[in-house]
Amino acid sequence: MRIAFLSSSGELGGAERSLLDVMASLRAAEPSWSLHLICPAEGPLVREANSLGVAACVLAFPEPLARLGDAGLGGPAGKKVGRVAFLLTALAACGTLGGYVWKLRALLNTLAPDVVHANGFKMQVLAAVAGLRSKRVVWHLHDYVSTRPVMARLLSYFARQCSAVVANSRSVAADAVRVIGSKVPMFVVHNATDLCRFTPCGATLNLDLMSGLPPAEVGIVRVGLVATMGRWKGQQVFLDALSRLPRSLPVRGYIVGGPIYVTNGGQYTVEELRGMATSLGVNDRVGFTGFVEDSAAAMRSLDVVVHASTSPEPFGLVIIEAMACGRAVVASRAGGAAEVFHPGVDSLAHIPGDAAALAECIQSLVTDAGLRTRLGREARAAVERQFDRSRLSAELVPIYQAVCAVHAR
Ligand code: GLC
Repeated sequence: MRIAFLSSSGELGGAERSLLDVMASLRAAEPSWSLHLICPAEGPLVREANSLGVAACVLAFPEPLARLGDAGLGGPAGKKVGRVAFLLTALAACGTLGGYVWKLRALLNTLAPDVVHANGFKMQVLAAVAGLRSKRVVWHLHDYVSTRPVMARLLSYFARQCSAVVANSRSVAADAVRVIGSKVPMFVVHNATDLCRFTPCGATLNLDLMSGLPPAEVGIVRVGLVATMGRWKGQQVFLDALSRLPRSLPVRGYIVGGPIYVTNGGQYTVEELRGMATSLGVNDRVGFTGFVEDSAAAMRSLDVVVHASTSPEPFGLVIIEAMACGRAVVASRAGGAAEVFHPGVDSLAHIPGDAAALAECIQSLVTDAGLRTRLGREARAAVERQFDRSRLSAELVPIYQAVCAVHAR
């Protein structure tokens, strides 16, 4: 079997890390299959794919197409992104679309894959516009389609061009059915992770040095939010929660991550977050590391990992990664993330956006080392049972085979 993976980004956000897990899982289970990756930019995804033995090539997005994104247009964050700016970028992108689609179609004709696995809305639409002769296209959804006003219309329009949809949670699948209907078979494949890389013991990082902070005193409990800089990832809620903790509590917060996407708007800058920390009076209690490539090492350097997304999280890969590292996790319970963990057993939970409740969870973990140890141990055991990435190939291979059987050449 030959599979061509298409990625909408060359950076390593959750959707791309999940794609790497899919490719690694297939490599191990089906070593004779030939896997190709088409990426819109050079970067860490190409490097990591190559090191897995996947033939990765770059078909660079023209600049306006790379910048085009409707993530900031829907919902409360929408105010941050001007509709006018979006329309101008869209107009410029349209001018470059024909040429890009022509090259994509030519490349796919040369690779002659049995299945095209499109990761990310942009590549899902581009694969459809390319009008591939064989309809063996699988869309892998990582986000809620309904929150993306433009993509929702396009995906609904082009749904007949794809033969199966894979969603990363039941919640994302239900949302997709509401938007695109049930004209395409829909499968839920929960993400999984590399349990040999995300381990309780292993390399750590000096988060204080990376954040430009003096070394923390002995006994300080390190609590960190590890996320991309999407405005809905809850950095402001985390800072607010830190500001509600008693000054005497031995805790230091960290915001681990940087703005990695090149699409318009929708992301915080580190400067903006520093400004927030200053106005909340917590700038001496929180460090900003910037983007960290080795997220496993970053998580191992923390005692508590916080997930604070303010909107329902489609899945929350970072939650299972932190659990695999045996860390005590506090997560915001909504959307697909609610399918992932069991509050009180392997984690603690708060309602999205509730800074007071998040502060309470953090305080109980900072003051109770036994609770941290117990939750961390249960968390590791839970991911070993449910989220080992060998499951990914076991679930995806039958989907690819079914797609090939239905659309036999
Ligand atoms: C996207 C989603 C996130 C998910 C990841 C991998 O980044 O927002 O919730 O964990 O994709 O599926």
